[in-house]
Amino acid sequence: MTRLKTLTLAVAAAALAATSLTAQAREFRLGLITPPQHLWSTEAEAFAQSLHERSDGEHSVSVYPAQQLGNEAQMVQQLQTGALDMAFLTIAEISNRIPDFGALYAPYLVDGVDHAAALLRSDTAAELFELMPAEVGLVGLGYGMVGMRQVLSRSPIESQADMRGQRLRITPFEPIRDFYTATGAAPAPMPLLEVYDALANGQVDAIDMDFDSILILKFYEQANNLLISNHMMFPMVGVVSGRVWRELSAEDRELIETTMAEHLENVLAGFQAMDAAQEEEIRQLDLNIVEADAEFFSEAIAEWEATWAEKAPMLEALREEAERLRQ
Ligand code: BEZ
Repeated sequence: MTRLKTLTLAVAAAALAATSLTAQAREFRLGLITPPQHLWSTEAEAFAQSLHERSDGEHSVSVYPAQQLGNEAQMVQQLQTGALDMAFLTIAEISNRIPDFGALYAPYLVDGVDHAAALLRSDTAAELFELMPAEVGLVGLGYGMVGMRQVLSRSPIESQADMRGQRLRITPFEPIRDFYTATGAAPAPMPLLEVYDALANGQVDAIDMDFDSILILKFYEQANNLLISNHMMFPMVGVVSGRVWRELSAEDRELIETTMAEHLENVLAGFQAMDAAQEEEIRQLDLNIVEADAEFFSEAIAEWEATWAEKAPMLEALREEAERLRQ
């Protein structure tokens, strides 16, 4: 090879390397299942705005709330093929595919929203993200959450025995299905936006839900018994398609990662800030309220643990971390 040809190739290779390091303008799409007024959706819009500004107008993000792009199982498939770029997902569908994530739903793993947020900010919880690229082809950039889970029902629930045979709406995922099956209830998996009608037409007797959704989607209009149980936390994860991630420059990855993490942190802090006032607002409604703790569900918890301690080995490390955070 002549010296000139060698030099030309070297210049071309350097130019190619420089191009791949340069940020390229992208129009991203981000999907989620919550309605537009939900904090996840408003923070997704705020993330879109921040990314647009911080990339000096190079990148834009169109946000599709309220399951416009399909349910979470469908969105995960779109993320895997690269048809969808980003999503804010409950851990539900992820835990169906990576059982270790099910550990985050261990009953009474945390004491309330502050403890939940602290655990989700820990390095131990972040370790779970390492499983995502290989197992589902997604890159997890941080956690958000909603408030703790409660049970809203048409007839009163005063003991675990009252749950027997109740058709109880759950978000579609295995750890929660196993928990309610162990209580004697009949779990009915159903997406969030179908719950109001299902309660109204008697398709379900009770629902597993958080304070915020009970208020913003007005579920209290259709069922007036509330078991304040705080039995599980309900994390969310901000993800980017692994295929899309691989196409991005290091500079763009860094920008997306820091910007998304900031808005996910706003979600965690937002639910921490709203929780007490939402509980108070709910207590002011005309509901029959019963309180429950781990003792109330002791038999169901023992059954759940027997299955999930084995299925989700991360449970032990998360429990230790949760215990450290209590001190
Ligand atoms: C639910 O399925 O209950 C749910 C999903 C996302 C946000 C809040 C609640």
